[in-house]
Amino acid sequence: MLLPGDPLRAKFIAETFIEDAREVTGVRGMLGFTGAYKGMPVTVMGTGMGIPSASIYITELIRFYGVKRLVRVGSCGGISTKVGMRDIILAIGANTESGVNRSRYGGWDYAATADYRLLSATVEVADAAGQAVHVGNVHSSDSFYNPEPDALAIWQRMNVLAVEMEAAGLYGVAAEEGVRALAVLTVSDHLVTQEETTSQERERTFGDMVTLALEGLLADRS
Ligand code: HPA
Repeated sequence: MLLPGDPLRAKFIAETFIEDAREVTGVRGMLGFTGAYKGMPVTVMGTGMGIPSASIYITELIRFYGVKRLVRVGSCGGISTKVGMRDIILAIGANTESGVNRSRYGGWDYAATADYRLLSATVEVADAAGQAVHVGNVHSSDSFYNPEPDALAIWQRMNVLAVEMEAAGLYGVAAEEGVRALAVLTVSDHLVTQEETTSQERERTFGDMVTLALEGLLADRS
C-alpha cells in the first residue's frame, strides 16, 4: 500500500501511476483505490493528518484487509541544513512527543523504525537511478503549530532531518501488528531557511517520490 496524507493525493496517485485503478472507499472522504503497478497489486489510500487519524486507518487496513507492506508517501519540513528543498528522505526511524508508542511499550522509550528490507530495497532503487536520497531520523509531531519554543533546537541538536506528523504512528502500529512499513518523504518547506515550495513544484517532486516508493516495493518483492 501507498499512504499519502491527503485523500486527493491518493486519487492523483491512482490516476497517474496505478493501472486499472478503481475506487474502493470514500468513507469520510478518505478515498482509497486499488489496482496494479507493473503487475504488482497496489492499494493507495489517504490517512488524514496526524498520528491518531493515520493509526486508525493503518490498523484497520492491516487487521481487516490483510495489508502486509505499507509505505507512507508524504511531505515534511526540513530541519537539518544538509537537507534541501524537494529532497527525498527515507525515515529509518521516527521520534515523537506523542504518547502512542510509549503507551504501547510500558512507558519506556520505543525505537520506532522502518522495515530494513523495504528501506534497503528503496535505497538501492534510488542509487541505481542516480536519485539522491537522505536516510535518517525524522520527528513525527502531534503539532503542526508547535507550542514548544525549544523544539527546533532539540531536533537540530539530535541531527533529526525533518519533521512530519505520521511516521512514528505508522511504525508503531506496523511493529505491533507484525507487518512492514516505510515512510518516504519530500521536503516541502524548511524550518531553518523558511523556504516553501510552490504547489507546482510539490506536484512534480511528489511524482518522483511516488515512483521511488512503488519501485522500492517492486524491488523488495523480487
Ligand atoms: N511540520 C509538520 N509537518 C509537516 C511540515 C512541518 O513543518 N511540513 C510538512 N509536513
